[in-house]
Amino acid sequence: MNKQDKLIKNNYSKYWETAREKIYGFMDYDKNFLELIYKYSEINDKILDVTCGTGDPFIQELIKKGYKNIYGSDIAYNLLFKSKRNFSQAKYIQSNIQNFGFKNNSFDLVFCVHSSWYFSDFDAALKNMLNISKKTVIIDLFNYNNKNKKKTYYWHKFYGSKIHRFIDNLRHFYHKRYDRIVWNFSVEWRAANVKNIIEFLENQTIEFEFMTTDFKKIEDINKLNLYVRIILIIKK
Ligand SMILES: C[S@@+](CC[C@H](N)C(=O)[O-])C[C@H]1O[C@@H](n2cnc3c(N)ncnc32)[C@H](O)[C@@H]1O
Repeated sequence: MNKQDKLIKNNYSKYWETAREKIYGFMDYDKNFLELIYKYSEINDKILDVTCGTGDPFIQELIKKGYKNIYGSDIAYNLLFKSKRNFSQAKYIQSNIQNFGFKNNSFDLVFCVHSSWYFSDFDAALKNMLNISKKTVIIDLFNYNNKNKKKTYYWHKFYGSKIHRFIDNLRHFYHKRYDRIVWNFSVEWRAANVKNIIEFLENQTIEFEFMTTDFKKIEDINKLNLYVRIILIIKK
């Protein structure tokens, strides 16, 4: 396992045990993302959340909605245990999505949310998601680039800038949150190579579309660069 994956599994995952609940909560973005899942699936479909974390809110909401075949996977055992404890109706598998061991076409819909920028090998993760899904893959991407970084104060301030990371780390040091410091210093945020993704999908004549985080279809692919975060929907 490489350094990035180890940090996610051993350090970042401790932060994430409570971060969803204490910091982020159930955001409008998550509600809209769930609507997309509902749109592209049936209630009896087999659905996999590849980076389910604590299962809050995605596994939780899908179960509430009446979905019967929900699976959650994650690289981190501690997060899966928490999810299993709270949402036992779903089935769980510990797995690094970059070397996933499922048979082809095992799931109707596969989704990955708030996570792809942590992957050390995005291409491998995408290929696996494509292989194991029968109908649909939904994944959100970090599309940070020179064209959009000036407009995006939030991302730039908190994640794009080393100075802010440094200040953030001092704060954690002061509060003796060493575990947070380790991952905050070392875990890399990786912007997706959208051009490569498009080329890869087009070469295999796989149908896809991109959406903004307001869940509007991006009709003109040349305008993708304007958005820091985009949602890729692949229809097999
Ligand atoms: C920001 S959290 C998001 C969790 C959940 N999707 C949510 O929205 O609440 C990122 C998650 O990705 C998982 N993760 C990161 N890299 C992974 C990998 N290579 N394979 C599987 N899970 C991974 C982390 O363990 C963590 O649970």
